[in-house]
Amino acid sequence: MVFQPKQITHYQAKHLIELQGNVSEAAIEYCLSQLPPFSEGDVIHDNACGSGAVTETIMNSKPPPIQIYDTDINPQFVQGCAELAKKNDWPVSTAVMSALELTFPDDMFTHSFTTFAFHCLGDHTKAAEQVYRTLKPGGTAVASIWISMPHVDALQHAHWLTRGKEGPMPALLPLESYQEKDLRGALESGGFKAEHIACSTKECNLTMPDVKRWAQLAWSYLGTLPTGWSQNDEDKWEEALADIVEQISSGDGFNKNEKGETVMTMVACIAIAKKIGRIAVGD
Ligand SMILES: C[S@@+](CC[C@H](N)C(=O)[O-])C[C@H]1O[C@@H](n2cnc3c(N)ncnc32)[C@H](O)[C@@H]1O
Repeated sequence: MVFQPKQITHYQAKHLIELQGNVSEAAIEYCLSQLPPFSEGDVIHDNACGSGAVTETIMNSKPPPIQIYDTDINPQFVQGCAELAKKNDWPVSTAVMSALELTFPDDMFTHSFTTFAFHCLGDHTKAAEQVYRTLKPGGTAVASIWISMPHVDALQHAHWLTRGKEGPMPALLPLESYQEKDLRGALESGGFKAEHIACSTKECNLTMPDVKRWAQLAWSYLGTLPTGWSQNDEDKWEEALADIVEQISSGDGFNKNEKGETVMTMVACIAIAKKIGRIAVGD
């Protein structure tokens, strides 16, 4: 049995929703504003869908009849998406699937969204190759990343405080941040041509009504080491949380809104990449 600290939050889709607030939706709404409206019959992939922020934002935009496929490696998140789709009677199919090994046929999707996931997919080239392969010629891929995430500094500080400076960082708190050039590089190595990739940035605010609760959710999700959790993490859980709260109250990128709530400003980089259609012989 894998060790887990007794204080940890066992993640379900609702916890990811609480952690992210509406920051993903704000960025995804911006992505959608950069695209032509959906057409009847469009087939859309919400890749590494998490709690389904892309699907929800698309469906809230009242599109014409379309079909959406939600996939993620985390079964709890996929189950959350299935429940959301069922509750709302949305045209959504769900499957647990790695973005590195999509089982969809070639040329299936008119649109493929991979939002705020490329940095954590491991083999970025393989992930981009799968996006390219499954996109129809003429189709559009949207890939977004956060290029400024002020909370990462706060969580890294708690990691060093409670685990020392030696040893590996949590995989989701890398020291080198994933930037536009990395995203472009991945998309190009996956098959997209440089001249068919356009990037833009968007500032988005995440409100934390209760910073201690947010620290609990963030440390539970992002704090795990490549080797897993340890007894030390359980012993120092409260110390880690207190440090995250302290760092958030004094760190760059955090402000208070008119209600006195803490607001974190993140910056999204959004790449829109086209898979150019094949030219038929004789054209
Ligand atoms: C930060 S969340 C983003 C979720 C969602 N796309 C959004 O914008 O809110 C990153 C997601 O990537 C998923 N993920 C990580 N590695 C994956 C992989 N190899 N294949 C599929 N999903 C993966 C995680 O389970 C998580 O749901």
